[in-house]
Amino acid sequence: MVCLGNICRSPMAEGLLRHKIQELNLDVETDSAGTSGIHIGSKPDHRMIDTAAKYGVDISDLRARQFQASDLETFDYVFAMDKENQRNMLALAKNETQQNKVKLFLEQVNYPELSEVPDPYYGDQAAFEFVFNLLDEATDTFIETLKKL
Ligand code: 4NP
Repeated sequence: MVCLGNICRSPMAEGLLRHKIQELNLDVETDSAGTSGIHIGSKPDHRMIDTAAKYGVDISDLRARQFQASDLETFDYVFAMDKENQRNMLALAKNETQQNKVKLFLEQVNYPELSEVPDPYYGDQAAFEFVFNLLDEATDTFIETLKKL
């Protein structure tokens, strides 16, 4: 799961996916990263931690890291939260196989109304709630794909 800072959207996406994978006992490895290095080593934004906790999901242990070209080799699925993140990752792809892995998360799950997860960083509490709910629905859909693997 990849966004810009790896402190709001992608740790929330990773946290939700990890939570659901654990509940279902699936053998799937999750991770997240930011295309930028500005928040390397930071905890998720406290507003995202608090919103997640309100819904019973703990993301306080996650720490930001920067997306690496090698992630395109390591992971089977690489999801961008928005088109800028997607472009930045595509610029690191070495071949067509790697290019084809980089999908917009909301397009992968055929989310009906949006193709990008909006950046809540400069938003209010409602923006964080919106991102949580969007990612909760999108991860539910993706879990159905994982169950079939
Ligand atoms: P994220 O949100 O990409 O969802 O983690 C952001 C976090 C930090 C900044 C921008 C977006 N920033 O400009 O520092």
